[in-house]
Amino acid sequence: MQMAVTRPTLAFLGAGRVATALGLAWQARGYTITAVGSRNPASARRLAEQLACRVEPFPQADLVFLSVPDDQIAAVARAWLGNNGQGALIHTSGVHSLALFPNISQNQFGTFHPAYPFGPQTRLTGEEGLLIGIEATSAELSQMLEGVALDLGGRPVFLPADAKARYHLAAVVASNYLVTLFEFARSLYAQVGVPAELNTATVLTLMQGALQNLVVYPPAQALTGPIARGDLATLHLHLAALEQTPWLALYCQLGLHTVDLAPDLQPEQRQQIKTLLTRL
Ligand SMILES: NC(=O)c1ccc[n+]([C@@H]2O[C@H](COP(=O)([O-])OP(=O)(O)OC[C@H]3O[C@@H](n4cnc5c(N)ncnc54)[C@H](OP(=O)(O)O)[C@@H]3O)[C@@H](O)[C@H]2O)c1
Repeated sequence: MQMAVTRPTLAFLGAGRVATALGLAWQARGYTITAVGSRNPASARRLAEQLACRVEPFPQADLVFLSVPDDQIAAVARAWLGNNGQGALIHTSGVHSLALFPNISQNQFGTFHPAYPFGPQTRLTGEEGLLIGIEATSAELSQMLEGVALDLGGRPVFLPADAKARYHLAAVVASNYLVTLFEFARSLYAQVGVPAELNTATVLTLMQGALQNLVVYPPAQALTGPIARGDLATLHLHLAALEQTPWLALYCQLGLHTVDLAPDLQPEQRQQIKTLLTRL
């Protein structure tokens, strides 16, 4: 006889991008969502309608996900606890740890961070294989959070107490700064008159091509371009073209890290490039 699996009930306090994507994904996998609350009742109603659940200012469930902006977490947690909050309270910040929660022993606390750039329309399919960073105040809660992470198709990782800042940096560098590099490249094409639509499409193609190479090859093999070839003349032309732009220092810093990835350079080529890029 097959045993019925008891799944925790879920609720959300904060009805934005993360709550919407996680709520819909868990609902599709058969979880019961009891209620949604948010600062603005209209936001809570919008998500509650999609999740077919109640609107409550201080929702109750086995796991209550506190998916509000980072600077609101401590205050909203205190308010929820002050309103007789029942169940485990879990925030979804990538950088903050359990330390944001008040030191109240009758409640369980956790953190649950899906490493993904959630946009307004992000919907999870389960194919993303999301890394999900987890902390919890008890082994029982760790196990519950692991279960709900696995049901998202996620890959849960239990984080040590002082890890969150470094853990979060990785996601910021990989995802946010890619956007910065996108703008860096587009500003250069724009300066030489490449029309806006073609500009965006071209930069996306270049980035997607590089990412595709990284899917297949290690960084040293995926790397193309002047530094990989040890082409000092090209670097001189680039530096002259970037003079008086706000991007020069970033170009040099990225180049200095890129030299260390290039596999085929002679020691003197490596040194010449480093000298050129640190001279400025
Ligand atoms: N976006 C990402 O890529 C991402 C990825 C992983 C983790 N996270 C983390 O997940 C958390 C939520 O991020 P998000 O992107 O979902 O933010 P978001 O889209 O801005 O949504 C935040 C929600 O919290 C509500 N809220 C704000 N202040 C509140 C308060 N004082 N009381 C109750 N509700 C309040 C908002 O209010 P309204 O009622 O006004 O709508 C909104 O519904 C953050 O800790 C963030 O660091 C974000």
